Amino acid sequence: MQKSILITGVAGLIGSKFADWIIQNNPDYRVVGIDDLSGGYLENINSKVSFYKINLNEDLSKIFSDESPEYVYHFAAYAAEAYLHLSESTIIRIIFYPLLT
Ligand SMILES: NC(=O)c1ccc[n+]([C@@H]2O[C@H](COP(=O)([O-])OP(=O)(O)OC[C@H]3O[C@@H](n4cnc5c(N)ncnc54)[C@H](O)[C@@H]3O)[C@@H](O)[C@H]2O)c1
Repeated sequence: MQKSILITGVAGLIGSKFADWIIQNNPDYRVVGIDDLSGGYLENINSKVSFYKINLNEDLSKIFSDESPEYVYHFAAYAAEAYLHLSESTIIRIIFYPLLT
């Protein structure tokens, strides 16, 4: 079986671009992608990716046993991490600060 690389967050910005790069530069590897599409977009995913729409909190054991990835690249995330600890009103104040002063 062809060697495979698993990319989580494959529908997102970094994961999808990384999948494109692997497909173009490492034809020895098949790319398997996981994403729950909570933040990314189906149209970002290269058509050569074997895609699983699933949340990482679910049981992934069948995917791992079926696909036997040699490497896993983990990019799935709620990526607006800079705002996570801030309330909505604080974020709005930051965004509109220049207009309010
Ligand atoms: N974009 C940047 O410039 C940048 C820079 C430095 C680091 N990073 C880091 O790289 C990682 C990816 O960033 P990105 O910009 O590609 O974000 P993104 O939001 O574009 O992609 C994240 C993907 O993860 C998926 N996802 C989220 N939770 C999931 C879950 N529980 N199960 C399955 N899929 C899930 C989303 O649907 C989305 O497609 C993050 O950890 C981010 O902090 C990004």
